[in-house]
Amino acid sequence: MEKIKFIIDGKEVEAVKDQNVLEVAQENGIYIPNLCSNPEVKSSGGSCRVCLVEAHQNGRMRLVTSCNYPVREGLEVKTETPLVKRIRKGILELMLARVPDAEVVVELARENGIEEPRFKKDEGDNYRYKCIACGLCVQVCEEVVGVSAIAMLNRSYEKKPGTPYMKPSEVCIGCGACAYACPTGAISIKDQGDTRKIWGKEFKMHTCSVCGKPYIPEAQIDWIVETTGKDRSFFDKCPDCR
Ligand code: SF4
Ligand code: FES
Repeated sequence: MEKIKFIIDGKEVEAVKDQNVLEVAQENGIYIPNLCSNPEVKSSGGSCRVCLVEAHQNGRMRLVTSCNYPVREGLEVKTETPLVKRIRKGILELMLARVPDAEVVVELARENGIEEPRFKKDEGDNYRYKCIACGLCVQVCEEVVGVSAIAMLNRSYEKKPGTPYMKPSEVCIGCGACAYACPTGAISIKDQGDTRKIWGKEFKMHTCSVCGKPYIPEAQIDWIVETTGKDRSFFDKCPDCR
């Protein structure tokens, strides 16, 4: 693996070629706020823009999203300049106006000196909605789970994830990966008894033969057995009892 050196906030750091700036910053204990990037999901990132930093190279400066900007030899990254702080604050202010109930956005906004957005809060259908339309849920479903039960619907301000025609999906397996990955907790997933409800569909949960806890949707087991050939008996016990 080819190694390179570059500078971040005045500190020389080592990285593997093709790593992104955010990843290397995190490895070196440098905090850059971020929402839509997930290291497990290659197609993620580049959407929320809160991870913006200054990238200096060859006498030029560009503002880039650190979660998808590859590190290179000779690069100098600055994460907390007055310009970065001002633009990040503006991004968070707009985001807070759109999703005032998303705790993670409220917290990030606060860290950046915003208590109340200057802009009018969205009082339309999405007023209580927490979605920042980053698309991570869709990417997880497609790239990690391999199901593609949801997609980004509508455009611009109305953009949000959903099942086709917002009807219960025929292909959703109820795994909940979208909800677990969502940075703002916007996707509703409810487990009650041996039933899970997500995206307007109910899933029967499989119960662990040892502790009796319902722990995985039957539909998810069917899908894993079908796509990987795994023995169904593997799911008799939950991960805690295996
Ligand atoms: S539901 Fe969550 S992961 Fe999906 S687009 Fe909205 S904020 Fe992003
Ligand atoms: S975390 Fe980089 S754009 Fe969202």
